[in-house]
Amino acid sequence: MNRRTLSTLLGLITFLLPMLSWAAPQPLIFSHVVSPDTPKGKMAEMFKSIVEKKLGDQYEIIIHSDSSLMNDNEAVNAIADGRIHFAAPSLSKFERYTQQLKVFDLPFLFPDMNAVNRFQKSPTGQALLTSMKSQGILGLGYLHNGLKQLTADRPFTQPDDLAGLHFRTMNSDVLIKQFELLNAKAVPIAFSEVYQALAEQRIQGQENTWSNIFSKAFYDHQPYMMISNHGVLDYMLITNSDFWGGLSEEEQRSFRFALDMSLKYGNAVAKAKSANDKTELSRMKSVSVYEPSADELATWQTAMQPLWDSYKDIIGEEIIRAAQQASRP
Ligand code: SIN
Repeated sequence: MNRRTLSTLLGLITFLLPMLSWAAPQPLIFSHVVSPDTPKGKMAEMFKSIVEKKLGDQYEIIIHSDSSLMNDNEAVNAIADGRIHFAAPSLSKFERYTQQLKVFDLPFLFPDMNAVNRFQKSPTGQALLTSMKSQGILGLGYLHNGLKQLTADRPFTQPDDLAGLHFRTMNSDVLIKQFELLNAKAVPIAFSEVYQALAEQRIQGQENTWSNIFSKAFYDHQPYMMISNHGVLDYMLITNSDFWGGLSEEEQRSFRFALDMSLKYGNAVAKAKSANDKTELSRMKSVSVYEPSADELATWQTAMQPLWDSYKDIIGEEIIRAAQQASRP
């Protein structure tokens, strides 16, 4: 190759290189803490596949599951700062940014997932999606996991049985106070560390959904479970407000389409998994699932009820009222 051809070739490469790198799809990070085979894991996979089908030449969704990139508290901060693009943390993990979402942590507020669904779809529930926008966090929709159950390493049927035990909670002061009302010691721990804390008996109990108890094998160290349905564990799918605002209308439409489809799918998976994983756990010989009577449940309710009053002004009375209305169809 003579000198002239070589310099033409180099010129061509220099000209083409920026075009090639410009053409590479932009990686968008979706971080979460659960296994791929969960409502959130499945929702994230479907979201990725639809976005990449519609906008694959522009964007690639990189999913980090099982807390492999960061825990949820870090993810919420990373969304606010624009360091990652999507996350779907539990509604209990926004304490640093808003007090209003604490409505979802109030025990025994929602009798079932239909009530949760109605509230999330109500004008009040929809307004909560934009309540952190000025802080960089924009809610794009809700995703269900399900109602929480209590589990422990020893038998229990009534609130007094938990006195003195250490219970893992998410990092939410409502949930911490909920266990304090039962005279138990609340220990906030990241989801990724719960299994080890149970194995090492640093905690004797925890609360979570059937899906999380099953997919993370908490039953290895928590043979006693109660069908308490005392609280809800749902998610808000969030993105960075500036990232979202910087998308074209056409791109936003495509992302919205992918979200609507994948959230519907995730919610259907949540319903099926909740029933299926409860059955799986109930069938295990090593696990005892206790179904409390209505009177027994009322005792738990009475013990936890004082939280409603203490959070009335913090959350906002009108938000709690809207949730109560949704709970009475
Ligand atoms: C999750 O379902 O995303 C984890 C919830 C938890 O921290 O218990």
